[in-house]
Amino acid sequence: EAHDVKSRVAQKLALIEPESGNLPASIFTDPDLFYQEVRTLFLSSWQFLAHASEIPENGDFVTRVIGQQDVIVARGSDGEVRAFYNLCRHRGMRVCRVEHGNTPAFRCPYHGFTYRNTGELSGIPQEKSIFPNGRVDKGQLGLYPVRIEIYRDMIFGTLGSQVEPLEKFLGNMRWYLDLIVGRAPMEVLGPPHRWIVPSNWKIPSENFLTDAYHTLFSHRSISEIGMAPKADFAQSGYHVNAGGGHGRGIGSPADVFMFDEGLRSTFASALSADQVRVLESMKNAHGTVFPNLSFLVSLVKVDDRPISLTTIRLWEPLDVNQTRIWSWFLVEKDASADWKERSRQAYILTFGPSGIFEQDDTENWTDITQNLTGPAVEAKPVELLYQMGMGQHPLTDFAGPGDVYQGKYSEANARSFYRRWLDILTRGEGA
Ligand code: FES
Ligand code: FE
Repeated sequence: EAHDVKSRVAQKLALIEPESGNLPASIFTDPDLFYQEVRTLFLSSWQFLAHASEIPENGDFVTRVIGQQDVIVARGSDGEVRAFYNLCRHRGMRVCRVEHGNTPAFRCPYHGFTYRNTGELSGIPQEKSIFPNGRVDKGQLGLYPVRIEIYRDMIFGTLGSQVEPLEKFLGNMRWYLDLIVGRAPMEVLGPPHRWIVPSNWKIPSENFLTDAYHTLFSHRSISEIGMAPKADFAQSGYHVNAGGGHGRGIGSPADVFMFDEGLRSTFASALSADQVRVLESMKNAHGTVFPNLSFLVSLVKVDDRPISLTTIRLWEPLDVNQTRIWSWFLVEKDASADWKERSRQAYILTFGPSGIFEQDDTENWTDITQNLTGPAVEAKPVELLYQMGMGQHPLTDFAGPGDVYQGKYSEANARSFYRRWLDILTRGEGA
């Protein structure tokens, strides 16, 4: 059976060529390709786990996922951040069944094995009377560690032993990611919102990565009610292919400074002069870190006053047609209380689970997934169009790295994303 899947996957992948500007719809619907993604992609990339501000105190923890593996991220009693499989070494029960908290130890609910928040197995009920010679080697039975690395307070983890260091993985994307999560000390307010949508995970990932184009049409009503500027508000700016499947769009120029005026000196000390210039002229930002971490900075009007919001997104693959969305609201730690509250309101109103932009987007993603799945599609292979921006030359004078194109309407990032996706699935590289 495993061999059959392998050869079916190989045959299907051999037909895909992202640079042609056409992709088969099956990339969003084929269970074999999803199986291959779970076996390879999510084992060979860095996955975002948590923002350091979610676990500020010793003993704080959150439970997260890498691909389909449950993971605990904990700040140990020694102050160090670690991650572990949420899996008891006795029978494999989850040792932690809540989403966040503070604890010196995790006690397995099945038979009571107890693990310190640093991962070591510290206690086994009745150990002396039930194990040979009254003991087992507890030193060998700590929670399985997960390799983590931290960039700008963003904690990433990977299950792959061969995965390159995080900074190398992020590559040129670091320069652009800095504008989102490194422009000032940031904090996450509240636990992340999570909800499940019947969509393939790549549709939203690709939307944030490459698709400024939909804003004009899908979100037109928001412009019409005066919450966003008119007409081509989404087109002006830059399309950035940072390489490695990472990329973003930068809306520019700005009519107003998007951020808290009081923090200008903070931004200037956290960023390079070139980065500050891009930040100053930015009017929106969206992007994706390959494969499934996205971000967005959006400027909206609430009660007729402009305010921006920053959110990061994880598209967790539950099944080929099921995605759990994780959405964090981020704000500058040193922003004024008024700014933080208005920004949070703007987030809830626009991109929270019931936000008006979010509704527009989700309707498209779930409808596409359903519409591309089914017998008719199998009878007639469906091809989708990814040709926007083909042949366009990158700018030679943009301050940031990567291939940067004038104007945000392009699918260059999608072609680059699916190239890396295809290479990884084809090589079958994994843990
Ligand atoms: Fe955890 Fe038995 S499964 S103690
Ligand atoms: Fe949208």
